[in-house]
Formats: sequence, C-alpha cells, structure tokens
Amino acid sequence: MRLSRRCSSVSPSATLEVLKAASAMRARGVDVVDLGPGEPDFPTPEFIKEAAIGAIRGNFTKYTDAAGIPELRYAIAQRYRNAWDAPWEPAQVVVTAGGKQALHTACLALFEEGDDVLVPSPYWVSFPEMVKLAGANPVIAPTSAANGYRLTARDLEAAATPATRGVIVNTPSNPTGAVMDPAEVEAVVRLAAARGWVVLYDECYDRFVYEGRHLSAASLVRQFPDTIVLSGTLSKTWAMTGWRIGYLIGPRPLMDVVSRVVSHATSNVCSITQKAALAALTDTDSSEAEIHAMISEYARRREYLVPALNALPGVTCAPPGGAFYAFPDVSSHYGKAWKGQPLKDSFGISKFLLEESAVAVTPGGAFGEDRCIRLSFATSLERLEEGIARMRKALESLG
Ligand SMILES: Cc1ncc(COP(=O)(O)O)c(C=O)c1O
Repeated sequence: MRLSRRCSSVSPSATLEVLKAASAMRARGVDVVDLGPGEPDFPTPEFIKEAAIGAIRGNFTKYTDAAGIPELRYAIAQRYRNAWDAPWEPAQVVVTAGGKQALHTACLALFEEGDDVLVPSPYWVSFPEMVKLAGANPVIAPTSAANGYRLTARDLEAAATPATRGVIVNTPSNPTGAVMDPAEVEAVVRLAAARGWVVLYDECYDRFVYEGRHLSAASLVRQFPDTIVLSGTLSKTWAMTGWRIGYLIGPRPLMDVVSRVVSHATSNVCSITQKAALAALTDTDSSEAEIHAMISEYARRREYLVPALNALPGVTCAPPGGAFYAFPDVSSHYGKAWKGQPLKDSFGISKFLLEESAVAVTPGGAFGEDRCIRLSFATSLERLEEGIARMRKALESLG
C-alpha cells in the first residue's frame, strides 16, 4: 500500500521500547519502579469529578460548538486576562483534546512544505513530529547544558534559517524542567516579531515552578498580538490527563481556521469533560487548594530526588526549576561493560537500569540529549526512594 510521505516520515516513539520492556517485566510479576510517566499520580479533584457527574445527570451529553462551550472559552480567556493582562477575547480561544491537539492543529494551520520550524532541544518528543505532520521541517536548536538547558534568544538566532517561520517554546520544559529566564522569554518574542516568526508557546507546566519565575507569553500579547500563539492544558495542573482537555489561543484569523479544522477532525471535545473543565477554572477556591497541595508534594519529592541523584556514582543532576522531571547526566557510565558489551548511550543505560534494577526511566536520546535520562517525580516519595536505592546498587556494579 502506498502511504503518504507526510505521515510515513513520522517516527515511532523512541520511548516505546523501554515502556514495552517494562510492561513485559510487570506481566512476569516483577515489581518495576516506574519513573517514566509524564502524568500526575494524583486523582482528579473531587469537585471536578462531581461537575462531570452533574453534566451526565443533566443530559449535557450532545454535540457542542466545535470551538468549545462559550462559558468555557470565556473562562479560559479570563484566566489569562486576570493573571497576565492578556487582551484575548473568548472568540480567540479554541478548546481542544489536550494541549496535544492544540499544538498539532496549530502546526497544521501555520506551517507547510518548505517551512522551517525551530525546535529547541532537549524537546518534548512530539514537537518535531507535529512539525513533520504539517509537511514542514523541524530544525533543532540546541540549548546549553551549562545554562541548565534554559532557552535563550541567542540559541534560536544560531539555528535560524532563511526559511524559518516559527519556533516552538516549552517552558517549564519537558524533559529538562528548565524554566526560561523571563528576560529571555521577552527576547525570544521580540526576535520572533522582528523576523516575522510565530512563537508557539506551550506552557502546560506553568503552575509547576519551584525555582525561578515563569513568565507567560500571554503577558506580551498587548505588544506582540500577531506573534504569540499559546497552548495550555488541564492535564497536568488539575490531574486530568485522561479527560483530554486543553486549548489554543491566538490571533483571530488563525483561530477561525483552527476552529474549522477541529470541526472537521474531531467536532468538539467531550461535552462532559468541558463541564468538568469549567468547574476547574471557575471554582478557583477549590482549585487553588487542590493545586497547592499537589505542587507542595511535587516540591517535597524534588527536594529529596535531586540531591539523591547527585549522590549516585557518576550522576550529575541540575535542579529542575519546574515541571515534574529530573534530567540527570549519566554519560560518565558510557563505555563501561555490561553483559560483555559497552554501554553506548542513553537507550543502553535505560535498558541496563530496567534489567538490572527493575527501574524504568526514559532515555534522553528520545528528547535529543543522549547524555541524560529522564526520571518523573510524579511518583510517590517511597517509590522514588526505592528506585534510587536500586539504581545505586546497579550503578555500583558497573565499577
Ligand atoms: C511539553 C508538553 N506539551 C504538551 C503536552 C500535552 O499534554 P495533553 O495533550 O495531555 O494536554 C505534554 C504532555 O506530556 C507535554 O509534556
């Protein structure tokens, strides 16, 4: 069968092999410490679940406007107006099935064949593939490990090409946890505006900040209304990954197209999910109490994890300013022998840790940084401690 070039160029997930091996071990009854997941380990807050149950009981179970129910679009616009003085109107908001659909549809609407799109690395695995699905070309813009992988405007200038049309910025970052310096957020937006690029700003971890300060690009929209397109999600902050709800906000002509594309692709986001999201965004007292409790727990785990990683043989880990990932450099172990072969890369060491200590981590090579591995601290403190103890044993055995 002949497949389209656009889709067959999309890579399979480079993290799949470890995941598959981990679930095979689990199926054999092995107690795997899974530090892979990119999702909160907390349940969705009760008041949000109740809103969804109320929506079902109230028969709010039919199609909605493709762009989302008006009160939810209003609540999303209001969130950015209150927090960042962004002048976005509800008509500039499209509700999507997670941040993922927001970013994917934005790429489809903005980029095409012949366009280069800057993707700072280390990057979230889906960014280059979303650019490719749009027919455009991802151009990797490395950030500096010495600068804690915090993106700067200079990193983008160094990678820019004459065909550059846009850049995908993710702060706080998955996988590094890096939080951009607010001055650099502004410098990046200024650079993009001067060059006529779009900044696709993914701030799905905006509430997960432990060190430094997150500046939303929303705060710059008054100055640069045609440059900034923002994607957000309820997945992480409200522990709602399975509900599939996020949003895209941007200039009106773009959002009209995005809304049309969404209407033909998926119609609306699940009506019940939208009511749940409305509760999350409008019952701010309940939300803030829940978010505060969850973020405090992530912070406590991070306080434990970062020094524990740095105390492991041959491991160095810069403290992640945000998100819920640690991204330690383990490359000092490369070249050491395991099962008669040298450990070559982040995939090799991830396989080693899984087989020798039943700890599942994600190879940094999947994110464009092969010296590192990613560990999620969306895992209980007890399991993190267990994982670290096992890793210590395994790494010590390498000598
Ligand atoms: C950087 C980044 N952006 C976007 C998403 C999208 O999440 P969702 O589609 O659940 O909103 C994720 C999820 O892992 C992510 O890590």
